[in-house]
Amino acid sequence: MNTKFFKFLQPLIFICITTLGYSQTTTVKWGNTNDTIKINKHIYGHFAEHLGRSIYDGFYVGDSSKIANTNGVRNDIINALKDLKIPNLRWPGGCFADTYHWKDGIGPKENRPTIVNQWWGGVTEDNSFGTHDFLNLCEVLGAEPYLSGNVGSGTVQEFADWVQYTNFDGKSPMSDLRKENGREKPWNVKYWGIGNEAWGCGGNMTADYYANIYRTYATFISDWTNSGGLVRIASGASGDDYNWTETLMKNVPNKMLGGLALHHYSVIDWENKGPSVDFTENQYFSTMTEALKMEELVTKHSAIMDKYDPDKKIDLVVDEWGGWYDVQEGTNPGFLYQQNTMRDAVLAGATLNIFNNHAARVRMANLAQCVNVLQAVILTDKAKMILTPTYHVMHMYKVHQDATLIPLEFESPLYTFEGKTLPAVSVSASKDSTKTVHISMVNVDAHKENTIELDLNVLGLKNVTASILSSKNLQDYNSFDKPNNIQPTNYKDFKFKKGVLQVTLPPFSVIVLEAK
Ligand code: AHR
Repeated sequence: MNTKFFKFLQPLIFICITTLGYSQTTTVKWGNTNDTIKINKHIYGHFAEHLGRSIYDGFYVGDSSKIANTNGVRNDIINALKDLKIPNLRWPGGCFADTYHWKDGIGPKENRPTIVNQWWGGVTEDNSFGTHDFLNLCEVLGAEPYLSGNVGSGTVQEFADWVQYTNFDGKSPMSDLRKENGREKPWNVKYWGIGNEAWGCGGNMTADYYANIYRTYATFISDWTNSGGLVRIASGASGDDYNWTETLMKNVPNKMLGGLALHHYSVIDWENKGPSVDFTENQYFSTMTEALKMEELVTKHSAIMDKYDPDKKIDLVVDEWGGWYDVQEGTNPGFLYQQNTMRDAVLAGATLNIFNNHAARVRMANLAQCVNVLQAVILTDKAKMILTPTYHVMHMYKVHQDATLIPLEFESPLYTFEGKTLPAVSVSASKDSTKTVHISMVNVDAHKENTIELDLNVLGLKNVTASILSSKNLQDYNSFDKPNNIQPTNYKDFKFKKGVLQVTLPPFSVIVLEAK
């Protein structure tokens, strides 16, 4: 080609490559592979609040239902969650937890008093799903229960009684009551939330006030040496409220604190959250901006915790995270029912990569929520049940549970929208007990492919397989009529030559590679 003509064309070619979506290649380097940080399986935890159709008409249909169930809980939900290897389930809230009196949910169901769900739709619940129902469900699922105790409107005694009821093997008023109600052996619940969002629906407390309240509850639900091995989790900050974390870490003795929570929702604007399906690219970009903020949040909250707990004994527990949009048209505004699209899949993949990469401090997290509420993994409509794109991401990522983190170093290409930018690529990697390596990759960019290059020689890996979650449109979802519209498929669009792997990530896709 004539060189003058080429010089004339060069800028145009550059503009085409950058704006029309040509793939950009990013080299990912392995960090220190001698690190032995475990990705705690509890990062992949879930959350079931008494909210909308999460418990009643969700998990729980009652044992006289025509829908196949185990002690009233839908079998299709049980099987789907078992398949997800759900490590823990948080219950009964959320805001509901600080209104819940556990003694109303035990004993013969016909004798149980009702409760008005004051935060979520003002509906009256019959308390037919209570402590036994929840803890037995966790046993069936093989998941650790994570109970959120009532601090806001309960008492220290009520909380201590709940611990004794669920955990005490000897003779006591509460263990006798448990036995009367048909359960001989204790469940040994390990994870206990001391209230929820104490700065808001949990009592509108100041950080100083709550720190003192926390110390009192933490004292009486245990003994001198915490011989029951309870993990006592303090209600944590909302988003970037670093003062909350600082105050709690400073004022609560380390030995009284097993975990400190953090809540962060990917909300565009609390007054105008936007639709869960028919969103614009502007709204997608805003949601992802909020989602990727998680990186900064866990980094900064961890840095504060490091000051007071340099040995990283206390867990950072992100026990509420996910996308929050306007409710689906025609549904109860208090029930927080929303659809789940490829936007949610990208959000979940990128967030879980952040948690994996911060596994040294983030040791537990709970997606909000599990069934029929917010960024659910499961949606139900009468006898029908569907698995959402978020479910599929969780399923693809379960390979990271309890695997050893492999730190990575790379500079992400940018996703640009109307002059604003976000990192387009998110990656995390781990090695499991069989020495199989899994690398999860997300391309956040709504339009451009991105290519990742990895030298697998370094780890002596020779065989690669991959699965992908992608779809034609960002707004695509699984409906009750088309439940398998979005599903993981085998992915082959990668090159593996002389040990160097090149993977092309389509726009808004999630890929998990397995290398041996
Ligand atoms: O997940 C819905 C609600 O969000 C929870 O009840 C509360 O903790 C948070 O504000």
